[in-house]
Amino acid sequence: MPSTGGDRILGIFRDQPAGMSDLDRRSFLDKLGVFSATALFASLARAEGRSPASLADDETFWAHVRESFVLTPDLIDMNNGGVSPAPKVVIGAMKKNLDLSNPAPSYYMWRILDKGREPLRKDLARIAGCSDEEIAIQRNTSEALETVIFGLPLKAGDEIVLSKQDYPNMLNAWKQREMREGIKLVWVDLELPSEDNDYLAGQYIKRFTDRTKLVHVTHVINWNGQIMPVRQIADAARPRGIDVLVDGAHSFAHFQFTIPSLNCDYFGTSLHKWLTACIGTGMLYVRKEKIPELYPLFSAPDPRADDIRKFEHLGTRPFYIEQAISQAIGFYEMIGAARKEKRLQFLKNYWMERVAGIPTARLHTSMKASFGCAIGMVSVEGRKAIDLENFLLEKYRIHTVAINWENIHGLRVTPNVYTSLKDLDLLVKGIGEFARS
Ligand SMILES: Cc1ncc(COP(=O)(O)O)c(C=O)c1O
Repeated sequence: MPSTGGDRILGIFRDQPAGMSDLDRRSFLDKLGVFSATALFASLARAEGRSPASLADDETFWAHVRESFVLTPDLIDMNNGGVSPAPKVVIGAMKKNLDLSNPAPSYYMWRILDKGREPLRKDLARIAGCSDEEIAIQRNTSEALETVIFGLPLKAGDEIVLSKQDYPNMLNAWKQREMREGIKLVWVDLELPSEDNDYLAGQYIKRFTDRTKLVHVTHVINWNGQIMPVRQIADAARPRGIDVLVDGAHSFAHFQFTIPSLNCDYFGTSLHKWLTACIGTGMLYVRKEKIPELYPLFSAPDPRADDIRKFEHLGTRPFYIEQAISQAIGFYEMIGAARKEKRLQFLKNYWMERVAGIPTARLHTSMKASFGCAIGMVSVEGRKAIDLENFLLEKYRIHTVAINWENIHGLRVTPNVYTSLKDLDLLVKGIGEFARS
């Protein structure tokens, strides 16, 4: 029987030390956040049968989700677009794995913890909707995507279509190949936000030529949260023999889709963003038939093998972090992907609708579900975004990030499942005060 999120969460308590008193047990469970988890289970049971949309504004339900995180009273984190805190159950599992392995790391790390790799691959494949033979466990999106960028056999004159609004690490990797090997980078420059998929996809498609080998698309543009029509671009590219590489740093476990539904060849993501796994976790998808021709970034015994595991020769690394990804998957499935997506859309639109009433405020993210989810951007006419960032931090201890990249300028605000409406009301108040000052 497939495991459920709840099983996975409770699974970490199964091998607690023998001979524990009730009091010890209580404090052990408390440390791992199980009492708030119990409140969450009760809340989930009450939510049975309700639609994800009707739960999106249920503050009681989401308050129990909030209780699953250790938050600081000193700061309201609205930069989940950077990285997300992990819930208590994930941090508990990570610490437990570390405590287990540290006394004899070579034994516990390589002979015990590493045994979790294949079940983890299956769990990741399940939520990605693909075969586990197409999933490699990585440390972040940069590693996953640079494996593809540097691993593809390309020659001078081969063309890559990509956009100025892609992520800097990826652009730098492509520019390095351009500098060393003479491949040609063909640039798209997007006007964002947009609610026109034909415009967005057309910017890429019109640049395809007989020399185009790959198109690089960022699924969610990190600067302003724009969701891109990856499928539309891929459907135009693949019949022409053009490979499709998707930067999914911000889409995986944020809103619902399966990787095969994108019709891409390669997909990389960071699990420490929307899956809320520990920092230093990521994933690479390679379409099965593409595996042999892609060279690994870290050498493998047979670089031309058709085994996805050839991308995991990363050397000694913190397996205690990697193996806690399972609890993050459990937490994600327990909340439910559809509920999470609806709540995140609701939170973004909640603050943006209120800020839209401020005469000098400008919004740079769509409020429509197909073009944006949790990430939103705002600017105040005639004012610098960095000044708004500093104002919110100094006056209200709200942490956001000012963006100045290519043609995108504004303040990026990213709530998460633990964000309360009270915190968003404070954000709206702060932006209003700044705009009037
Ligand atoms: C679109 C995009 N791609 C790639 C990355 C890199 O992610 P990481 O630092 O986890 O490798 C980020 C990070 O924010 C991103 O937003």
